[in-house]
Amino acid sequence: MMNWQALILAAGKGTRMKSRRPKVLHPLAGRAMLQHVVDTVTHLGMRDNVVVIGHGAEMIQKALKGNDLKWVWQSEQLGTGHAAQQAIPELHDEGYVLIVYGDVPLIRSATLQAFFEVCQEVDLGVLTVELENPTGYGRILKNDNGHVCAIVEEKDANDEQKRIREINTGIYVVKSVLLKQLLSQLTNQNAQQEYLLTDIVALAAQAGCVLRSYSIDDPMEVSGVNDRVQLAELEQYYQHRYRQDLMRNGLTLMHPDSVTIRGELIHGMDVCVDANVLMEGRVILGDNVTIGPHCVLMDVEIAAGATIEAFSHLQGARIGENCRIGPYARIRPGTQLASEAKVGNFVELKKASVGENSKINHLSYIGDAIIGAGVNVGAGVITCNYDGVKKSETCIEDNAFVGSNTALVAPVTIGEGATIGAGSTITHSAPARRLTLSRTPQYTH
Ligand code: UD1
Ligand code: CA
Repeated sequence: MMNWQALILAAGKGTRMKSRRPKVLHPLAGRAMLQHVVDTVTHLGMRDNVVVIGHGAEMIQKALKGNDLKWVWQSEQLGTGHAAQQAIPELHDEGYVLIVYGDVPLIRSATLQAFFEVCQEVDLGVLTVELENPTGYGRILKNDNGHVCAIVEEKDANDEQKRIREINTGIYVVKSVLLKQLLSQLTNQNAQQEYLLTDIVALAAQAGCVLRSYSIDDPMEVSGVNDRVQLAELEQYYQHRYRQDLMRNGLTLMHPDSVTIRGELIHGMDVCVDANVLMEGRVILGDNVTIGPHCVLMDVEIAAGATIEAFSHLQGARIGENCRIGPYARIRPGTQLASEAKVGNFVELKKASVGENSKINHLSYIGDAIIGAGVNVGAGVITCNYDGVKKSETCIEDNAFVGSNTALVAPVTIGEGATIGAGSTITHSAPARRLTLSRTPQYTH
């Protein structure tokens, strides 16, 4: 989209959130509301996008610093028109400006695209929606040709106008040059004594411009967040919409309403996710992966055929093909499992690399470790990776067998095919293919 710029208004205080955090930074599905809007317009190919900020400006800039945005300050909130005026120096002289709000996070790019289609060759377009109860919103006034010619705010509306159910969503497309001209003509002669962005519509109509409105079906897409109740409603709506997209794309959700995805889920064929699963960040599930109930998956990649059983918590890990994890496993960042590995109940792995076919089935802590293929780690084995000052590594080579309740005091290496007797405290490396154990003799008195 050449010469398309988005203008995002986000200077409002958001008093009703009752929060120290600026409203537009409150997360929806794990992402700040403003980030949703920025992602949508970026996805549409818009560049040089401008954000108008005021309340909590520094926090907002910091939170969005990974984005290529132009920031504009509105030090006093004198209305939406005043907010847009602050952006004039940053607006191009050609093309179109899309105006959106930072607290209306769910507008879809497909909807905007359809809106743009309708607005081709038009000077100013307004996105509208019909509401059962339009109270509080700006109403759309139309001329004899059925084209939008003004927007009247609730406070300025007469009784007849208040009965109009088509409302202004606050989303507009306007030719850049025209927008600059219209904004410079705004006054605050109205019930609110604010500079109303909505007045650009009547000004454009009076100047003989071509105007269009485009009405959408789904009010949720354009609903704004004023308090935490509305934020929760939009979250529910977003989750519902995302789950439906995923199911239509072939994902099985056993109990859809109980699954929450705060991020992005990429999945293969015949993936099944059971009830009460939470996903965060980027989650990738290969073909035939099964996720049991009550699991938490954060930034994980799980290869085809793997099964994650109930109550497992995985973060920042890569799980190989056909692995079996859990129930009740905890996989922490930096962990990688090769194919066919098994991790059982009450096992914690941190920064561990586990080779093919290796098993850590019960009650273990394995941290900062490199484990080869075909290794058996017995119940209750602990890597003592921390001496109070620094972390050290444990290395268990292929086909080794570590007996139950062994403490491996790192740095230490267990050689290939070695056997460690149960209950040992291993402080020196154990040679390959030999039995090593450290155990106090058994007495019976
Ligand atoms: C606005 C529209 C109304 C529309 C409604 C849809 C105007 C005058 N009215 O009303 O027609 O039906 O949205 O939700 O535009 N903002 C600033 N600076 C300001 C004032 C607002 O940046 O000085 C930002 C807010 O942060 C918010 C957005 O603009 O993101 C909308 O402001 P808000 O006060 O909520 O407008 P409404 O009165 O709801
Ligand atoms: Ca509002």
